[in-house]
Amino acid sequence: MEPTQLSRGQFLKQLGLSSAALMSFYCLGTTLTSCSKDSDTPTPTTTTGGTTGGTTGSADTGITGTAKGASIDFTIDLTNSNFKSLKTEGSFTYVEDIIIANAKGTFVALSKICTHQGTTIDYRSGSNDFLCPNHGSQFKTDGSVQKDPATKALTVYKTELLNNNNSLRIKA
Ligand code: FES
Repeated sequence: MEPTQLSRGQFLKQLGLSSAALMSFYCLGTTLTSCSKDSDTPTPTTTTGGTTGGTTGSADTGITGTAKGASIDFTIDLTNSNFKSLKTEGSFTYVEDIIIANAKGTFVALSKICTHQGTTIDYRSGSNDFLCPNHGSQFKTDGSVQKDPATKALTVYKTELLNNNNSLRIKA
């Protein structure tokens, strides 16, 4: 009997893969390669540290108060080694799910989670905005979307300098 050439569809059918199964396999691959959280996030060169802040900080971490959950209200010590460099314009850091940036001398605090697919955003001092390294969404310092694919604004937190500008309070 002559060997016959199988079409792609026939070949896959013979493998026993339904189109639904193939689709989910394809989507999983897509998700892992282009949308996984933090997979493409470069290490910020201007991060000041303090990424380990808990809900109840201590003098050691430079964080006091509640840094995650529904009632965010915490203060960071800008004289603490974890946050000292935040006094420099253009620097930024993360505390829990919040990115705090010294945006041209004004402290801003926003959710660090891109509203597109959840990647951690970075602050860009040159353009004074936030960039998601995953698909390129950009946000203004007021949280609004500057460039898609994100369509929803970032949550913005209130900031207040205290203690002769040596402490920064961040509040929902
Ligand atoms: S996760 Fe897609 S642009 Fe941020």
